[in-house]
Amino acid sequence: MSGLDDVIAAETRLSEVDGRNGRLVICGHSLDALAGQQSYEAVLTLLLPDVLSVCEETLRAELAQARLRAFQEVASLDTDLVSLSVTEALRALMARLPDGEDKSVALLQIAAPAVFVPALIRAKAGQQPIPPHAGRGHAADMLAMLTGNQPGDEQIRALDTYLVTVSDHGLNASTFTARVVASTRAGYASAVLAALGALKGPLHGGAPGPVLDMLDAVGAPEQAAGWVAAELGKGERLMGFGHRIYRVRDPRADALKSALNRLGASGGMDAHRLALAESVESAALTALRAAKPDRALETNVEFFTALLLEALGFPRDAFTGVFAAGRIGGWVAHSREQIETGRLIRPQSRYVGPKAA
Ligand code: ACO
Repeated sequence: MSGLDDVIAAETRLSEVDGRNGRLVICGHSLDALAGQQSYEAVLTLLLPDVLSVCEETLRAELAQARLRAFQEVASLDTDLVSLSVTEALRALMARLPDGEDKSVALLQIAAPAVFVPALIRAKAGQQPIPPHAGRGHAADMLAMLTGNQPGDEQIRALDTYLVTVSDHGLNASTFTARVVASTRAGYASAVLAALGALKGPLHGGAPGPVLDMLDAVGAPEQAAGWVAAELGKGERLMGFGHRIYRVRDPRADALKSALNRLGASGGMDAHRLALAESVESAALTALRAAKPDRALETNVEFFTALLLEALGFPRDAFTGVFAAGRIGGWVAHSREQIETGRLIRPQSRYVGPKAA
């Protein structure tokens, strides 16, 4: 009851999370058919056919124009903003964008995190932001704005895989938040801003950074089992494991593991890091199965997110922002869907406080 676990709060055509069978369907397509196969723009045409162009090439060009517009917000960044964490600075920048329920607002919202996150990362490192390039796809441009270099094909594919993999996922906490705000007709920007606040928490989108902290703390593959046992002994949760809905392996973890392996095969992934991650995953799964035999705790999307984004050059405090850059498609699509119902979300609470005198 307190976590609304079994409550169905919306009907959606956007995604189905089948926790029992470990399957994710996005707009009628299994994640396996999308991740690593389709661009982020292609998935946006599925999520938002009534708002954005349904032609991938047209949307690619429109999104590029929206990135150029978003860049105006970060061409020069004030020091107060740069001193914040990337997630908090992203939230502040997103709050400056215009609100509404039309296509231009939707496009700018979806484009903005891909521009703001690289600019903030660079600003925090004392570097100038790099402007977007209208000729690039969304994932390629995000990588180019991060490094200043033209990314390789496998890097572009890896980031596209990530953005597609996290683009939508049922009524997770941030998406539900977006729908609640959208139902008040506040506008896409308000819905996204509220969703970003929900995403920030470590039990939702804030987990991948701590996954790398965990790998650093373990240090070497042979120390994995001892470290994991000690953490569980202290009652700590292992970041990157467990999920509220999936009772088997998170299919997104597999999609990202495949992307990582492809990146590794092209020389884009440190083999020692991968070996350490594999030993920590194996030790964690063994220990979690022993500690919670009744609750199948498996590797979740955040574990491989951490490794993939690290290999692509994103610093760990920016991981939640990159997550937002992918999930924003789902947030806007759910906002749209909620608006179309014409219904304000307004649940009830049961009063358990003291009786009035
Ligand atoms: N490490 C250790 N123990 C765990 C973990 C974990 N990662 N996850 C769950 N457990 C334990 C719980 O403490 C609970 O123990 P208890 O019965 O003794 O109280 C038991 O397993 C059952 O927990 P659940 O009810 O299945 O977990 P819940 O649905 O409340 O939480 C959550 C799901 C928040 C994801 C949890 O597994 C967790 O905290 N994981 C670590 C953080 C993480 O990886 N977050 C990212 C999630 S993916 C995403 O949001 C995109």
